[in-house]
Amino acid sequence: MSDRKILVTSALPYANGPIHLGHLVEYIQTDIWVRFQKQRGNLCYYVCADDTHGTPIMLRADREGITPEQLIAQVGKEHLADFTEFGVAFDNYHSTHSEENKVFSSLIYERLRDAGHISSRTITQAYDPVKNMFLSDRFIKGECPKCGALDQYGDSCEACGATYAPTELKNAVSAISGAKPIEKDSVHYFFDLANFSDMLRDWTKAGHLQAEVRNKLAEWLDGGLQQWDISRDAPYFGFEIPDAPGKYFYVWLDAPIGYMASFKNLCDKQGLDFNEFWAKDSDAELYHFIGKDIIYFHALFWPAMLSGAHFRTPSAIFAHGFLTVNGEKMSKSRGTFIKARTYLDHLNPEYLRYYFAAKISGGVDDIDLNFEDFSQRVNSDLVGKVVNIASRCSGFIAKRFDNRLSENCSEPALFQEFIDANEQIAELYETREFGKAMREIMALADKANQYIDEKKPWLIAKEEGKDKELHDVCSMGLNLFRLLAVYLKPVLPTLSGNAESFLNLDPQAWPVDAKPLLSHAINEFKPLMTRVEIDKIEAIVEASKENLEKISDTPIARKFEPIADTIDFDDFAKLDLRIARIIKADHVDGADKLLQLTVDIGDETRNIFAGIKSAYAPEDLEGKLTLVIANLAPRKMRFGMSEGMVLAAGPGGKDIWILSPDEGAQPGMRVK
Ligand code: 2FM
Ligand code: ZN
Repeated sequence: MSDRKILVTSALPYANGPIHLGHLVEYIQTDIWVRFQKQRGNLCYYVCADDTHGTPIMLRADREGITPEQLIAQVGKEHLADFTEFGVAFDNYHSTHSEENKVFSSLIYERLRDAGHISSRTITQAYDPVKNMFLSDRFIKGECPKCGALDQYGDSCEACGATYAPTELKNAVSAISGAKPIEKDSVHYFFDLANFSDMLRDWTKAGHLQAEVRNKLAEWLDGGLQQWDISRDAPYFGFEIPDAPGKYFYVWLDAPIGYMASFKNLCDKQGLDFNEFWAKDSDAELYHFIGKDIIYFHALFWPAMLSGAHFRTPSAIFAHGFLTVNGEKMSKSRGTFIKARTYLDHLNPEYLRYYFAAKISGGVDDIDLNFEDFSQRVNSDLVGKVVNIASRCSGFIAKRFDNRLSENCSEPALFQEFIDANEQIAELYETREFGKAMREIMALADKANQYIDEKKPWLIAKEEGKDKELHDVCSMGLNLFRLLAVYLKPVLPTLSGNAESFLNLDPQAWPVDAKPLLSHAINEFKPLMTRVEIDKIEAIVEASKENLEKISDTPIARKFEPIADTIDFDDFAKLDLRIARIIKADHVDGADKLLQLTVDIGDETRNIFAGIKSAYAPEDLEGKLTLVIANLAPRKMRFGMSEGMVLAAGPGGKDIWILSPDEGAQPGMRVK
């Protein structure tokens, strides 16, 4: 076996929200890979941390009346508890708000500065005169300069897809205080990424990236690299820049440095040599598992920062796709935005580990969690195939042979076939083709079941004088089961651990040359896994619908919106307000907020796009009454023509109300 030294990371989750199933695609994937490496005998460390800095965390702490330090301590504990219960076994879980991270962030900044890679200049930015803070695009809201849609963020419009500068928004307000932003100057610090163009061009071609990612980077590099703004003004929760009082490192500057910081923290606890893994000439391997949305940070900024500060660069970046649920983006209103904790309250985490493994490939494609497929696959593969082998054989071994396996391996060729598969399965794990690995293992499970079906131990058991045959067949079955459990160990550590206890074995290494267990005493068999119960899935979806409020971290902006200019009665009288019945409601492809409604306004039907998707599922709306402005000029939107406006009330998110009581109202009735 090899003596590789490997350091592995998953992206650091933000400390401003709970872990959900979308996150877990990454952590479970990384954990499987790390467990596999360890089982192969490699020296492998898996480190992570909470990503704790930035404005959203500062504001949330403010809203909750606690300090950011208290907030991140609490969230850090919750994150780690969720990961641990999902079997994600970090060697160290740290925080970016740590002494180690402060030291490395300053060191890297100073080395970059001294080498001439940092420059500064004054920029003009939106500023909240009430809260006395600069506002990034996500904290400015207003009307889209192109289509007039209300309540759009400072960089792009969700209704028409336009992109613009925050200064172009009409009637812009601070999403934090509701005040009208002013413009203000401030000195910012920039990392001159373009100095690393040649280095990055070479690096991205040198086998560190997946093909899809490499192509994306080639586009970015061809387009020219921009300076990266790495500073933020006070008030900001983060690290102050050493030579610039009142200026803080932007959260994304110190986040990846958190990988180093967490590892340093581990080194100090365990007496490891930090430099062996991070020095420029290190012969250790360094891998970052990330989502495809943060490739820019990891494949451009990060290698450039490391190289400019004289550290080693990553051996590879492994990017993955997003999670969809039942074929759609995770949705709070449909109850498919599922928190890790909600899942854990109802289902065995190893079901999900297996399901994700069965779907993961080495590429960046999205992964779909389809609830029906989920339960079928777990029930048929794990319960129906793998665990079934043990339950079919263990009873006879217990009752008839005092829990001792036969002294004989009756089918050496079959056993050898299972051992020979180890190389192919290892290659698939190594290349993160976990779906293919699971299929190989299940093909072996089919063979084991076929063997038992052919031998029919339940019939042999009834015949006189066939004890030895019965003993051999059932022992053979359990020997095959043992190898399946070993191959599944990176994915199902608990099930495999319980199988090891049942088979009275030490933790199993990768079975390169494992021998059959002969005359071996085993323990009492206990059920290793039960079937997925559909009502548990339903309970998860229900609970996720109930939890909507708690997960929302949208700033409460609309409450504070200033009263608009006064209109006179004649203006008001121009509005033709009608009761309308929603005949049909549909999702709109590519729109996060919109639903497409077909409404009956009495003597005609209208097509209206409404930004109410966060509050209503289409099926909640059909047949219900609402209020529309019937004489609004039709507006052409990216998705089609909108012929009216649905009136809504509420602060946003789930709390938007558009429905009228049904009693006595008729479509077409005028409302005044
Ligand atoms: O996208 C995110 O959730 C970030 N918190 C990931 C940071 S990864 C690393 F750079 F720290
Ligand atoms: Zn627009």
